[in-house]
Amino acid sequence: MSVDFEKEGRFAIITMNRPEKLNAINAEQGRAMNEALLRFRDDPELWVAIITGAGDRAFSAGADITGFLDRQPGARDDRAERVRGDNIWKPLIAAIHGYCLGGGLELALTCDIRIAADNSRLGLPEIKVGVIAGGGGVSRLPRFIPRAIASEMILTGKQIDAQEAYRIGLVNEVVSRDRLMPAAKQWAETICEAGPLQVRAAKEGLIRGYDLTIAESDQLVRDLAASLRGTEDAREGARAFVEKRKPDWKGK
Ligand code: COA
Repeated sequence: MSVDFEKEGRFAIITMNRPEKLNAINAEQGRAMNEALLRFRDDPELWVAIITGAGDRAFSAGADITGFLDRQPGARDDRAERVRGDNIWKPLIAAIHGYCLGGGLELALTCDIRIAADNSRLGLPEIKVGVIAGGGGVSRLPRFIPRAIASEMILTGKQIDAQEAYRIGLVNEVVSRDRLMPAAKQWAETICEAGPLQVRAAKEGLIRGYDLTIAESDQLVRDLAASLRGTEDAREGARAFVEKRKPDWKGK
C-alpha cells in the first residue's frame, strides 16, 4: 500500500497504489497523498501533476470504511489542515477510471481538470454507510454541477457514469481506459505551453476569486497580473510572439 510518485520531465505522476482495496484511502494513504502533494508543490522542476489510481477497477473507492468502526463521538479528521489540489496553485489533473467514489471523487474535485475513462462510476455514497461526504464533497459538488443533480448525488448516493459526468460538466473529457494516461499527459503538455508562473497566477485568481464579489475578484486578479509584470517569462511571451516562435519559459 502506498502512494507512488514519479517524475516525468515537468510532470509529477501521483498514483494511489492499493488496488486490492480499490485504492480506498486509510489514514496512512491520506498522509502519503499529503506528502506527495507537498513534494509536487515544492519541486521547482514540476509544473503539472496527474493523479490516478493503480489497477483497472478504481481511481479510488473513497475513505477506508473499516477505519470508521472505532471513531469516537465528535472526532474530527485533520483533512481540513492538509494541503489539497485547490490550495496548491500548480495545476493538477485527475485521471479517473473505474470507481471514483466518496473521498476519491472529493480528491478529483480538488483537481483542475478531470479526465474519465469510459468505465468510470462517480458518486458520493457516504450517506449509505452512515456518514456524509465531509471531505469536501458536500461543499464542492454543488459548485461544479447543477444543484438538482448535486442534491440527488449527495442525498441518495447515486452514482453516475462517465458520459453523464461529461454531459453535466463534471469531467473535461471521456476516453477509453487505454487512452487515459496519454490523454492526461496531453492535457499536461497543453498546460505547459503557457508560462508556469502565469498558469499558477491564473489558477490562484480563479479559485480564490470564486468566493469573492466580482469587484474583490477583479482586484485580486489585477494584483496577480501586476506581480507577473517584469518577470522574464512575461517578456519572453511578448518577444516570442513578435519573433513568431514558441516561447521558451523559464518559470522566472
Ligand atoms: N473502504 C474499505 N474497503 C473497501 C472500500 C472502502 N471504501 N471499497 C472497497 N473496499 C474493499 C472491499 O472491502 C474489498 O475488500 P476484500 O476483498 O478484502 O473484501 C475490496 O475492496 C474489493 O471491493 P468489493 O466490494 O469486493 O468490490 P465490488 O466490485 O463488489 O464492489 C464497490 C465495488 C465500489 C461498489 C464496493 O466496494 C463499495 O461499495 N465500496 C465502498 C464505497 C463507499 O461507500 N465509499 C465511500 C466511503 S465513505
